[in-house]
Amino acid sequence: MKKILLTVVAALTLSFGASADEGMWLLPLLQKMNIKAMNELGCKLSAEDIYSVNNTSLKDAIVQFGGGCTGEIISDKGLLVTNHHCGYSSIQALSTPEHNYLEDGYWAMDNASELPVPGLSVKFLRQMKDVTKILEKDPTKKDALIKAAKEDFPGCEAFIENFYNDNVQYLIVYAVYKDVRFVGAPPACSGKFGGETDNWMWPRHTCDFSMFRVYAGKDNQPAEYSKDNVPYTPARSLKISLKGIKDGDYAMIMGYPGRTSRFNTEAQLKLTLESNAISIEARTLRQKLMWEAMEADPTVRLQYANKYASSANAWKKWIGMEKAFKKLDIIGRESQEEADFMAWVGKNHKRSEKYGSALGDIEKNVDGMRKPYLGMIRFTETLNRIEVLGFAGLFDKVYKAGKKNNKSDEEAINAAVEAVKAVYKDYYEPLDRVEAAALAELYNSKCDPWRRIDINVKNLFDSTAFTSAEKLEKLAAQGIEAVRKDPAMVLREEGIEMYRSLYKNYINYATELKKSSKTYTAGMLEWKKGQPSYPDANFTMRLTYGTVKAYEPKDGVLYKYYTTLDGVMEKKDNSNYEFRVPAKLEQVWKDKDFGDYAMPENGKVPACFLINCDITGGNSGSPVMDANGNLIGLAFDGNWESMSSDVMFEPDLQRCICVDIRYVLLLMDKVGGAGYPRNEMKFVK
Ligand code: ARG
Repeated sequence: MKKILLTVVAALTLSFGASADEGMWLLPLLQKMNIKAMNELGCKLSAEDIYSVNNTSLKDAIVQFGGGCTGEIISDKGLLVTNHHCGYSSIQALSTPEHNYLEDGYWAMDNASELPVPGLSVKFLRQMKDVTKILEKDPTKKDALIKAAKEDFPGCEAFIENFYNDNVQYLIVYAVYKDVRFVGAPPACSGKFGGETDNWMWPRHTCDFSMFRVYAGKDNQPAEYSKDNVPYTPARSLKISLKGIKDGDYAMIMGYPGRTSRFNTEAQLKLTLESNAISIEARTLRQKLMWEAMEADPTVRLQYANKYASSANAWKKWIGMEKAFKKLDIIGRESQEEADFMAWVGKNHKRSEKYGSALGDIEKNVDGMRKPYLGMIRFTETLNRIEVLGFAGLFDKVYKAGKKNNKSDEEAINAAVEAVKAVYKDYYEPLDRVEAAALAELYNSKCDPWRRIDINVKNLFDSTAFTSAEKLEKLAAQGIEAVRKDPAMVLREEGIEMYRSLYKNYINYATELKKSSKTYTAGMLEWKKGQPSYPDANFTMRLTYGTVKAYEPKDGVLYKYYTTLDGVMEKKDNSNYEFRVPAKLEQVWKDKDFGDYAMPENGKVPACFLINCDITGGNSGSPVMDANGNLIGLAFDGNWESMSSDVMFEPDLQRCICVDIRYVLLLMDKVGGAGYPRNEMKFVK
């Protein structure tokens, strides 16, 4: 392995939180690993106040929202707050050009006007239990453990999740509530103020929140949607602090971080950069076409709002990551870490036997998977984005599932048609056509010659039935054989065949890679034994703690730890879609009609603030809490200077961007005119 001399960088603390701020900690281990340091930093709570299996604790107020975000309960009646970008797809789904809640905002004025969101659910964590030892002794115990947990927690979901690259196993239990209703949100121009331009950046002025309510059956247990359901009574809800925030104050976040790769090696990081480059290229092309169509027509803007935002979010993250990798010498530092690890391994015969080949094995497998893996990414980011092909895929999936469940042909076809019909609300054929042409050309110009797929875009779109519900219904009436002959179906099959051949090659290396990663991670844990450590994020609940903190993005520049509503007015440009300010907000600002949401010291309304906690995607919407566990804001973003954060934590640079709860309340109460949710909240002043 290459040994690179380090100039600027001090000892690396990969996945072992040496400083207070790094770490996505496991709740059951707080007592053992963290509470002392947390209390020293200012936290007034005990580990048991935060996570307890037997008593109510803070964790009972926090949910996984919609599968990919975090939300928190802020009243005894199941009122929930999360980010605007977490509610985004739900709000879009409820919107039409006539009732455009995404564009105009929405506030229910009573329970009756809260809007059910089909398909949206939230999960409450009931328990996480380390079962590593049990399963090491007897791996067949898995099903019995799950069964016992389901008996202990009737009606709950239970499963086993692995941590530290499969070195540790936890049994996790969730209660899943499926009746979640939309209460309100600011218009997108506030909830997404700054748009893609400000995304991942500080200074920030986005009021990134939306509100929902969890409903339950009359027994307070999870229930499918029914108008007879009642607001859920939580075991715990968060109080809201209006006391304000100072630099250096203790702050912590609990939530559901999605994925990090802090145990990845140099070889893996290099492959990640290569795959990101492929994705960036394809998305640059596709987003340009999307944006042009969206700018030209407000209906298309609504239809493609979520598709665009989610594409652009990852795209910008990858661009920032590439820059941060260079600037912070991530690869060089990783290489040094591995060299140090190998030196430790080499000092002892037993260690050498256990861990000596792990890094080499990882590299070998990464090299083996490179070609098929990058081919898969290229396919996914180009041909697989052609929407009509996706609709054909959806049809196929639902039809096959129906047949598997012994439905008649007709029933299975009808179910498939119904599933596909739902997508046309957000479909604009002319855009799909131009995208298809551009993406096919890009794919064919970059893939191996024998993997090219010949696509005549005009023929495809002129003759497929998958461009509209009417055409599809007509075709489906002729039976499954006719559907199979549809050009979109045929082309999709061809693509899938090609993808499968890549996957078959890839998966052998991936399976081996998993084993060598497990060994390497076990070695890392042994190397750093005695230091608190945390596993990579995996969509399970974690806690991260630190303080409110400013930062220096570059030489000579110091960023303050907070922004204010004045900054919204400074950025205001009503001719720019991303920087529009609603007239009502401007009026409230001019009138200084701020109620108790202004900062006592200067009369300004705080907008966003910074803390040095350790978060990633999935944490969006997480509560930012003070030393007493009261809500001071919502986490919603990371900062541009540390976009490599998923692989390495940067104590000096890495910040979590939060929206101040007072800005949220101003938009709900003073601008949105929704007083009734406020009456349910409990305040600390
Ligand atoms: N970067 C933030 C996240 O990943 C916000 C994403 C949504 N906003 C956007 N402008 N696309 O959670």
